[in-house]
Amino acid sequence: MLGASTPRLAVNLSCAGGLGFIAGGTDPANLNKMLDESKRLLPDHQSKKFEARSDTLPIGVGFQLFNSNLNALSGALSMHKPAVVWLFAPKLEEDLRVWATKIRDVTDGLTRICVQVGSVAEAERSVALAEPDFLVMQGADAGGHGQRQSASIISLVPEVKDRLSAMGKAHIPVLAAGGISDARGVVAALALGADGAVMGTRFLVAEEAGIADGWKRELVKTSDGGVTTMRSTLCDRLKENHDWPTSYDGRAIRNKGHEDEEAGMLDVENVKLYKEELECGDSAWGPHGRMVIYAGTGIGLLRAVQPVESIMEETIRESRHIMDRYYVNAIASHL
Ligand SMILES: Cc1cc2nc3c(=O)[nH]c(=O)nc-3n(C[C@H](O)[C@H](O)[C@H](O)COP(=O)(O)O)c2cc1C
Repeated sequence: MLGASTPRLAVNLSCAGGLGFIAGGTDPANLNKMLDESKRLLPDHQSKKFEARSDTLPIGVGFQLFNSNLNALSGALSMHKPAVVWLFAPKLEEDLRVWATKIRDVTDGLTRICVQVGSVAEAERSVALAEPDFLVMQGADAGGHGQRQSASIISLVPEVKDRLSAMGKAHIPVLAAGGISDARGVVAALALGADGAVMGTRFLVAEEAGIADGWKRELVKTSDGGVTTMRSTLCDRLKENHDWPTSYDGRAIRNKGHEDEEAGMLDVENVKLYKEELECGDSAWGPHGRMVIYAGTGIGLLRAVQPVESIMEETIRESRHIMDRYYVNAIASHL
């Protein structure tokens, strides 16, 4: 979530009971700057809710492996030792092993490794290659990039849990990602056997998120995400990002660019119109505009732009409330 996930967002999230991530990007100087900034923001919080392990920086850093240079970026990881590094989208799966080994090495084994994958087979291979400290299972509802062919977390998470057990790897925690926008999704993920939940789209409407106001406005306005968002490679073609491995596409709000493509418009014209609209400011956002608005199917559950702390407080409180209700019902049924 390069640009969207600011150091302030990540730090505030970690301090509110979750684990916030920044996007590592491809520029080592910028990564260093963001990690420095995160460190600078922490002392204000550390005495509050976050029980930091003092030997690591209590945020995570995510990398898209296919376009990132491990050797160039590893210096920043060695210096700052983030709590977790999140690996996604390798060009070759073998790269997961190379990244995991190097990061463990340069951080003296302090930084935990997680891998985000989108299928049971990919989970199995990434465990064999990188022995991650935890796995993120990304379902088809997720906003942003993901595997073109994937199931929703409803079947993906329990099947992966079963596969890990069969492999003797049941100790590896599994987090569910994709379409989780509130406490009901979090508790559902736990019921599926997940050890935790990942929310991406929900934090795009955090006050701290570094995206355009027009993007936030459309996120709050849009509902019925199964219809109003769609998976496609169009957004990459518009942004002339041609390096994504071919098995990936991205979920975004369906807009004029998608409509024109379906009506037969060629990329060359679509890209031209997209570039023209980049100059149009706020009016270019939304279903009638051409700006790329990555978002998951959980978009209809976003009600307002809020500080991260209040998103987390609300999600944790309501999750506890739902779980208490089921617990009380379960006890009552045995009386
Ligand atoms: C705007 C946006 C950017 C994203 N960028 C990345 C990324 O750079 N790397 C990555 O591993 N996942 C990325 N994701 C996907 C998330 O890791 C996660 O799987 C997803 O947000 C979960 O689904 P949700 O958006 O429905 O909560 C992105 C998601 C969004 C919405």
